[in-house]
Amino acid sequence: MTRVHVDLGDRSYDVGIGDGSLSSVGSVLKSLGARGRVAVVSDSNVAPLYGGVVTECVAAAGLAPRLFTVPAGEQSKSIERLKGLWDAFVAFDMDRSSSVVALGGGVVGDLAGFAAATYMRGIRYVQAPTTMLACVDSSVGGKTAVDLESGKNLVGAFHQPAAVIIDPTVLRTLPKRELRAGLAEVIKTGVIMDDTFFARLESEMDALLALAGPPTLDAIRRCVELKAAVAAEDERESSGRRAILNYGHTVGHALETLGGYGELIHGEAVAVGMVAASRVAEKLHMASAEVTMRQEALLQRAGLPTTLRSVRPADVLAVMRHDKKARGGTLTMVLPTRIGEVRVVNDVPPETVKAVLEDLLVG
Ligand SMILES: NC(=O)c1ccc[n+]([C@@H]2O[C@H](COP(=O)([O-])OP(=O)(O)OC[C@H]3O[C@@H](n4cnc5c(N)ncnc54)[C@H](O)[C@@H]3O)[C@@H](O)[C@H]2O)c1
Ligand SMILES: [Zn+2]
Repeated sequence: MTRVHVDLGDRSYDVGIGDGSLSSVGSVLKSLGARGRVAVVSDSNVAPLYGGVVTECVAAAGLAPRLFTVPAGEQSKSIERLKGLWDAFVAFDMDRSSSVVALGGGVVGDLAGFAAATYMRGIRYVQAPTTMLACVDSSVGGKTAVDLESGKNLVGAFHQPAAVIIDPTVLRTLPKRELRAGLAEVIKTGVIMDDTFFARLESEMDALLALAGPPTLDAIRRCVELKAAVAAEDERESSGRRAILNYGHTVGHALETLGGYGELIHGEAVAVGMVAASRVAEKLHMASAEVTMRQEALLQRAGLPTTLRSVRPADVLAVMRHDKKARGGTLTMVLPTRIGEVRVVNDVPPETVKAVLEDLLVG
């Protein structure tokens, strides 16, 4: 198993990445000092596929597992499901020495992570991510949350996992659309921090889509290393360093909120958002046209959208202005200067963004 250390003082932990590593969740928990009960939280798609492997290895390690399943989908990131878990933890007699395993995508990771952050003022939890997005992004860094009707992720906590265990073989059952969406975050990582990695993605995209072993493991490892570095530098999003991870997300979130565009899923919206941000950077003479062209080409090869359909640029802009990342007359966006480097720009003129969105509109 490959290990990446997330250096956060007394909250440090290891991310283990390896084929078949899911069956080591039990021994990892044991080595972390876990005792007694272990709530394995999963969703209705993932639990039938991998719930057994995890509960069996937890039991084999001498711990007492129980599987808790929530319905698959973002709707489960709710206060109601959170309360359901708290009550279930009490009914399962969990105490401060008990642990939680988040077995699933970002939805389960955020929900189970927040349940662990709050139950008895915070208990140990382990992330076992099963989507590409969760492997390369949400499982590392300790952000947990649920949604309110008024918006996503409005209630949450920073609560670092005690370990993250990534088994890339579980991605074989992931719907291809979800895999592609996760690859948007992988491509994002290259654009914001590592041009060599981006170039490797250009030569290995087909292998990644086919989930070929070594390139997949390598890509996940690099994303985890880079995310871990950013999270270690700016654990609680206070210095602004962590903001670079929002590349493509300002326009992306607006597109998700508007929803119209054939129900874009997160990674797809981020793909369009990256192209938009890169074109804004071009217009502001921060980046060359080649920077955008390479991203567009790679996103398209990953099967991701790079144009806008059936939304009004004015609506996108209106949502961006209401977003917490856009205050005042100008917009704040993460913009590339080249492949491998981005800058947070606080005074992006809305007209520039609007012009770019109009250019991106097809049909
Ligand atoms: N905490 C963070 O830092 C952070 C970062 C990015 C995103 N997020 C959150 O992550 C969530 C999105 O996560 P996601 O994209 O992983 O979505 P998801 O958890 O909804 O998973 C996507 C779909 O794939 C299914 N699935 C998962 N793993 C599978 C597998 N191995 N085989 C078959 N089916 C599988 C799920 O049941 C679901 O239907 C959002 O709520 C977002 O806010 C959090
Ligand atoms: Zn994202």
